[in-house]
Amino acid sequence: MSMRKSLAVVAFAAPLALVACGGGEKEAPAAAPASTTAAAPVAADAGAAAKGSASIVGKISFAVRTRAEIDEAARGLEAAGVPMLREPSPLAGAGGGYGLQLVDPEGRLVELATEMESVVPMSREVARPVGVTHVVLNTVDIDRAVAFYTSVLGMRVSDWSEHRMAFLRCNTDHHSIAFNQAGWTSVNHVAYEMPSIDHFMRGIGGLKRRGITPLWGPGRHGPGNNTFGYFGDPAGLVCEYTSDVAQVVEDQWLCRVWRRTPELSDLWGTAGPPSQDVRTHMAGTPDPGVFATHPELLGVLSGSTS
Ligand SMILES: [Fe+2]
Repeated sequence: MSMRKSLAVVAFAAPLALVACGGGEKEAPAAAPASTTAAAPVAADAGAAAKGSASIVGKISFAVRTRAEIDEAARGLEAAGVPMLREPSPLAGAGGGYGLQLVDPEGRLVELATEMESVVPMSREVARPVGVTHVVLNTVDIDRAVAFYTSVLGMRVSDWSEHRMAFLRCNTDHHSIAFNQAGWTSVNHVAYEMPSIDHFMRGIGGLKRRGITPLWGPGRHGPGNNTFGYFGDPAGLVCEYTSDVAQVVEDQWLCRVWRRTPELSDLWGTAGPPSQDVRTHMAGTPDPGVFATHPELLGVLSGSTS
């Protein structure tokens, strides 16, 4: 199944606000092997939950190329016993399109979408994001999470950070999603792509002029080689400006296990170690996801991907 590298829309649905950033399309990568489907993330919706100011992931949406791939995915999901909250059908949300929605083993709502409306790319002269490039999720079972996203969604593991983080790709970007072993299921952070390191730094400067100081950064990570500058949004969600993520050549890339040392998490030595404050922000609060409204799905996937 082919994948689409487009990172088209990201939206954070706070109680009464919707902020959307549009981005351009990138070159489509080669087909994913032996999977139900594979895709590129187009959106991560997070919102302030009824439980207060806690940030939760409402939906993680991935683009696929065609309706036929959506339909094929549905057949694969059904065969694998993966619950779908939406069978293949037209999508009613912003951007329209056609897609399906499934539930992962920790209750996250995952959408596969195609035929979304395009937007006119914004000028790249201005230092603002061109799309969402990755989402990092806290998981209670990193092996189960990796097994599900590789075997069901066809993603591939680019690198590990010891046995604490796993970086997964679905296109040439080193990671489009990553999992962090944690005490509960939650969103760790959402990363926005800046077109260049100059845009990245000017973007951080723009935030600082608005009184928003990075929680951590700027710096450059070892795994993925991407720049990072983390800051909090008004709902408490950790967002990241990033650029220059490593590009994977499939027949040349060797997955490695990185040691978790200050020198490797902060290659430039500019950011220093993450503070307890940023760690607390990244831990978030327990997110029951779809299980809050569909408790009957709890345990449906236990053992199905391991
Ligand atoms: Fe990140």
